[in-house]
Amino acid sequence: MTYRHVPVMAKEVIELLRPEAHKRYLDGTLGGGGHTAELLSRSGPDGQVLGLDWDEEALVAATERLRAFGGRLVARRANFIEAKNILREIGWDRVHGVLLDLGLSARHIESAERGFSFRSAGRLDMRMDRRQTLDAYRLVNTYAVADLHRILRDCGEEPAARRVALAIDAARRRKPIETTTELAALVARVVGKGSGGTHPATRTFQALRIAVNRELENLKGFLDDAYELLLPEGRMAVVSFHSLEDRLVKTAFRRWSKNCLCPPKAPLCRCGWSRKARLLTPRPLYPAREEIQANPRARPAKLRAVERV
Ligand SMILES: C[S@@+](CC[C@H](N)C(=O)[O-])C[C@H]1O[C@@H](n2cnc3c(N)ncnc32)[C@H](O)[C@@H]1O
Repeated sequence: MTYRHVPVMAKEVIELLRPEAHKRYLDGTLGGGGHTAELLSRSGPDGQVLGLDWDEEALVAATERLRAFGGRLVARRANFIEAKNILREIGWDRVHGVLLDLGLSARHIESAERGFSFRSAGRLDMRMDRRQTLDAYRLVNTYAVADLHRILRDCGEEPAARRVALAIDAARRRKPIETTTELAALVARVVGKGSGGTHPATRTFQALRIAVNRELENLKGFLDDAYELLLPEGRMAVVSFHSLEDRLVKTAFRRWSKNCLCPPKAPLCRCGWSRKARLLTPRPLYPAREEIQANPRARPAKLRAVERV
């Protein structure tokens, strides 16, 4: 299968990151290399990108696609939470721009064997990094009902979280739940028809995927001090695809843009905090109608950006 991932909101990302010659960038979610291809072409002849992805297939595909840029791309198989260490290892320390384009690539969704899609039968897997031992099969078949309930509620915002968790438990007592389509059919029986044309298992699959890949923990860990990766006037852009991610990005960026973190009624400032960044997008940017028409997967995207002061 060829790796066809159309970069989401590429024009807006490039306008915000303003790639230029002699500068260095970090793409924490290299994927098919779509955004990085833009960063490299617009920062010629010598701009550089460190591209990270924890999915080996993505890394191989992106390296192949971006071969023409030679040593201007440094690609590493790694979780973006490791970015600070890897930048130090390659001697860059800080960069002029950082991009995260979160979530799944088209390849994840389209290949049944990766086990992300409820539309095509595959073993329940959902690992983006196939080196890790926890997969969706293990989560669904061994986690306590209370943990399943919490995951479906907190990571999927599934209103029927408890009923779905109980139905999974009843089914797995008879035999393990093996495939994506088996789980999707079970959830559909519990939840009934989805609203607004979405599949009834959408929220359950989102929840499991987020939990298996520890997506919120990784994003939060990255955002804790990610402004330190930027040089002064360096910019960071994050494209997120669901409200849980966007909330983390919004909260971190707002915090960085504050002069003080003391409670509003504190008579004296004791926090020692100083403003780290300026919000470039006080409200998130959304994909244009034409982009959604051409690439419906862009629909839920939200883009936020800051500039280090
Ligand atoms: C939406 S795709 C990126 C697509 C890319 N911007 C492009 O234009 O082709 C997201 C990629 O990020 C990777 N990814 C997600 N979370 C990650 C993490 N914590 N560390 C490293 N890579 C991650 C996924 O494996 C996937 O390949």
